[in-house]
Amino acid sequence: MIQKKLEVTYQPFGKSTRVPPGTTLFSAAHWIGLPIDSTCGGRGTCGKCKVQILDGSTEITTADRKQLRADEVAAGWRLSCQAKVYQDTTANVPELLRVPKAATMGVNRLVLLDPNVRKVYLELTEPDLEDQRSDVERLQDALTAEGFDMKVSLPVLRTLPSGLRDANFKVTAVLGGDQLIAVEPGDTRDESYGVAFDLGTTTVVGTLMNLRTGMAEAVGSTLNGQAPFGADVISRISHGMQGQEAKAELRRAVLQTMNDLLKDLYSRAGISRDRVYELVVVGNATMLHLLLGIDATPISMMPFAPAFREPLYLAASEVQLDIHPGGFVQTLPIIGAYVGADIVAGVVATGLAREEKLRVFVDVGTNGEIVLGSSKRVLCTAAPAGPAFEGSQIKCGMRATDGAIEGVTLNEGVELQIIGGDVRPRGLCGSGLVDVVAQLLMVGLLDPSGKLKSREEAPEHPLSDRLITVEGVRAFLLAPDVYLSQRDVRELQFAKGSIATGIKVLMDVLGVTAADIDEVLLGGSFGSYLNPESARIIGLVPAVDVDRILSVGNTAGEGAKMSLLSFRERQIAFELPQKLEYIELSGRSDFNDSFIEVLRFPELRRVA
Ligand code: FES
Repeated sequence: MIQKKLEVTYQPFGKSTRVPPGTTLFSAAHWIGLPIDSTCGGRGTCGKCKVQILDGSTEITTADRKQLRADEVAAGWRLSCQAKVYQDTTANVPELLRVPKAATMGVNRLVLLDPNVRKVYLELTEPDLEDQRSDVERLQDALTAEGFDMKVSLPVLRTLPSGLRDANFKVTAVLGGDQLIAVEPGDTRDESYGVAFDLGTTTVVGTLMNLRTGMAEAVGSTLNGQAPFGADVISRISHGMQGQEAKAELRRAVLQTMNDLLKDLYSRAGISRDRVYELVVVGNATMLHLLLGIDATPISMMPFAPAFREPLYLAASEVQLDIHPGGFVQTLPIIGAYVGADIVAGVVATGLAREEKLRVFVDVGTNGEIVLGSSKRVLCTAAPAGPAFEGSQIKCGMRATDGAIEGVTLNEGVELQIIGGDVRPRGLCGSGLVDVVAQLLMVGLLDPSGKLKSREEAPEHPLSDRLITVEGVRAFLLAPDVYLSQRDVRELQFAKGSIATGIKVLMDVLGVTAADIDEVLLGGSFGSYLNPESARIIGLVPAVDVDRILSVGNTAGEGAKMSLLSFRERQIAFELPQKLEYIELSGRSDFNDSFIEVLRFPELRRVA
């Protein structure tokens, strides 16, 4: 359902934006690059984010009454972090964050260093017979005076009596939002770290981030230890369906992968895990379910309802991830069974939902997740592409590892780009597959219907001796023992057809054509390696100028890092499920009609 957007204007800047009802004035300001002052992470406890409503109105909240004087409330002042808009509103902003520290991340996005983890150095008065406040009260009072709220869990409470006394009541309180993570002796504000995880079905990437500088201290990646249980999410879920032990096995495998990676990051950066307080993890819906030990079976069956979509903030000890024992694990929200937190992170990293440019973002893999839109309206969907892009189901297909042909140029001869450099070509990975098909179209050895020419049909062609037959099927020889068969071309046609149709359906729903699209962003572990021109030649992406097709890298990991470094970006991720309209493709008649249409390759000017 399309929600009617509301107009929010900020004075004295004269800047406006349109937001869904229920958005806070604080978040909406950040969306358009106005960082309203705050120290409490938008929790309504620091009072720094106050704005005056000049036009429109917002409800008076308990936090307003607590933080603001009665005459201020009467004059229309509100805490912008609590003020949700339900009508067009104009507000006056007296205080922006002054010279905020920022880092460039994602796709050229400037991120304010404003992490959810905060360290507050406190010199507490010691208890005596005149002052018998409890340790918790003592801490709470001191933190309130600094504008912070605090909740304490039993494990941390157990450390308080000795922790405070051994340090002569001079301590650093570590907060994750309003949760007290630790009380450390002395002033440890210089040491604050977190880890951003992109939990992929195939590959897991972890980045240890310095929360004070915004710099990565160490990055590591490894194969997901669940790989032996199947290459894609459906086979993992099927394995889990064998019973409790199988589910536990999947969970153990991914925990082992992540904890080994954490250990490696700590040792390479020379940082103790006790200074690592938060871990942000993004991944598809299935990966997040399996990590948390939640049954993912319903994701694989109609009507594809996951167990949860909300962002979760969980004790790391409960999830069993090895950071500070009082630390927390944050997951980003899931849009649907097949548009997961990795795509939400991608939207954060590309800024797609915040800019005026109309962009399409495609994460190409077994599923093609597609997001189309701008700050005005954003649509998303998942198109089942099958395993062709990952190199399986392709006769000489392989993963993108040493020996894989990743790039192909055809002219008078055949030029191959092979992963690992000077090694014998062993097979064809997804980007090589797209390249060779595009090149065959260009040199006229493949017609737009997807039919490969035989040697007899192209006797004069300089590459005609490469046209062979393998087990009665036409093929094009790339290297000894590596060829592209007619069936492989058909597989690719189905895969690209599905994604291209998904894009077309979204364009139709939004009422735009290729000419309206400012940029096509190719992301994900496969999409980033795709040659933009080849993607366009085979019709995987809309026909826009090739310089408007950009590889944007690991956007899921970038979005996770941004959410780790900035609570404002995290908030934006939390709000995306309200902003992104999910379009279900199955059952749409236009999906089936367009699919047949886009199976063909676009007509081209032939170069040979
Ligand atoms: S009260 Fe702290 S950000 Fe609103």
